[in-house]
Amino acid sequence: MCGIVGALGQRNVTGILLEGLRRLEYRGYDSAGVCLVNGDGKLQLRKTQGKVADLESALDENPTSGQLGIAHTRWATHGVPSDKNSHPHVSGDFALVHNGIIENYQELREELLAKGYEFQSETDTEVVVHLIHDLASEGRNLLESVSAATKRLHGAYALGVVSAKEPEHLVCARLGSPLVIGVGIEENFIASDPMALQQVTDRFIFLEEGDLADVTRDAIAIWDKTDEEVSRPVNKLQGGHDAADKGRYRHYMQKEIFEQPKVVEATMAGRIGEHSVLSQALGTAANEILPKVKQVQIVACGTSYHAGLVARYWIEDWAGVPCSVEVASEIRYRKTAVRPGTLFVTISQSGETADTLAALRQAKELGYLASMTICNVPNSSLVRESELHLMTEAGPEIGVASTKAFTTQLVALQIFCIALAKANGMDGDREAQLISALHQLPKLMEKFTGLDALVAATSEAFAEKNHALFLGRGVEYPIALEGALKLKEISYIHAEAYPAGELKHGPLALVDADMPVIVVAPNDELLEKLKSNLQEVRARGGELFVFASPEAGFRSEEGLTVVEVPDAAESLQPILYTVPLQLLSYHVALLKGTDVDQPRNLAKSVTVE
Ligand code: G6P
Repeated sequence: MCGIVGALGQRNVTGILLEGLRRLEYRGYDSAGVCLVNGDGKLQLRKTQGKVADLESALDENPTSGQLGIAHTRWATHGVPSDKNSHPHVSGDFALVHNGIIENYQELREELLAKGYEFQSETDTEVVVHLIHDLASEGRNLLESVSAATKRLHGAYALGVVSAKEPEHLVCARLGSPLVIGVGIEENFIASDPMALQQVTDRFIFLEEGDLADVTRDAIAIWDKTDEEVSRPVNKLQGGHDAADKGRYRHYMQKEIFEQPKVVEATMAGRIGEHSVLSQALGTAANEILPKVKQVQIVACGTSYHAGLVARYWIEDWAGVPCSVEVASEIRYRKTAVRPGTLFVTISQSGETADTLAALRQAKELGYLASMTICNVPNSSLVRESELHLMTEAGPEIGVASTKAFTTQLVALQIFCIALAKANGMDGDREAQLISALHQLPKLMEKFTGLDALVAATSEAFAEKNHALFLGRGVEYPIALEGALKLKEISYIHAEAYPAGELKHGPLALVDADMPVIVVAPNDELLEKLKSNLQEVRARGGELFVFASPEAGFRSEEGLTVVEVPDAAESLQPILYTVPLQLLSYHVALLKGTDVDQPRNLAKSVTVE
């Protein structure tokens, strides 16, 4: 959802800005731009439609340098991807980069047009830079102008602003979109995500909602939403240095699929003992809250929502606690009835998804028992604003299609569900059984990633298809949903998922030889029912691809391809069956030649509504 970087140093910062943009490209990649201030009182602007690599080529042809600069990689909201809609946007001596959406931009645009401002772009952002220019013409300096401008804005923003006349200042502000300040030695930086700056610093200040900051080389001054000067802590962050490196893999998504045995293990470490969940697993506050939980409301978006759907089966089965799961963009706009004792749980890889965050903020007014987040990014807004948090240890996920974040969310959710079940009287034997299964997971995960060649061969049947249907029953239904989402995200094949029992209520009408049907068929109590559903497909000439263990008793034959997977405990099956479906979409995308890591029209971190 657009990435921002800014730097004010003792050296030419162009390389730092470009490296920052490369690391932020997951946030949007339809255009990129940079503006340098090099002390001659002029703005040096370079921007282009396309990826950061295109901006680098533009800079090779027309180089520039400066000790102060701002840069941006865009995910279009208002106005098509084009050179003129790319940021930074300029008005006189001012240049600005923005992430978010300015909701009252039409009204501001008309006001500024009436004052004689000319607009170069179709973006909502351009009004902000003209507004700053207009406010400065009344005698305000850069900081005062940005401060006054933010008071007129409705919507969401992270802003980085420079002025050619004040090359000693980088001014930034945040409301509703993430922004951090990277603290250096006689140089300072800003970015949408600390990962953008990990090549230059490991010390970060996380701005709060409504903060405005004046960043100079050796000082950082911050004002909160009431204009009170405040001091925000400097956090030292470690790790993440290898995130921008694909290593021996061709794509980040591939690397991230193969990292899963390691990261699921990391997510369990320190949280489960040999036979039980450790008491500190969810933090001490959780030990008081969990026994009071009468109901769970899970809220998330995209892949994280699918993780929530899986967890519902576990929460109701193991803990006997009712659970609802809803996408954040829906729950935040409807009237909800909250039963006393309901725990509000958000699930998010990034911790910054705008709808999920808005739903959490709203939940705080609605009488929930407490809020908890399952999240992959420490210090993210969701972590900071939730009372309880359980971190997934997936490490940075760069591929836009989520893989290791999902399986680590499932592991964290299992730990939470076992802890909740324990607080609701689950017996020690059942707990020990579930925990000992979890200990098997990393090794089994390796066996499942080892299916790569087999799945690659199977993927050939999909490359020429335009549609695919995914089926599962019970807890595997959300896994089918996730499999379909992966396929559409990166191969652009239209894919839908259905609970297999629903086939005859509509989707069967679509089944013919051109519609491959992918089935998640573990050896569980619903297997026989699933087999009957598959007969319905075969009787209509549909081609079946069944992911099943040998124990499930499927044999490949005309119209039925069995992809044999290792046998595993039932509680692990949804986590493990995800892996061959990830591999399937990856290999289909390779065959189709799509952009695996940066599929069209999508962005990894959706920080706008
Ligand atoms: C985007 C990403 C998805 C992700 C969803 C929710 O759509 O492309 O991969 O599942 O946002 O993101 P979150 O960070 O909240 O898990």
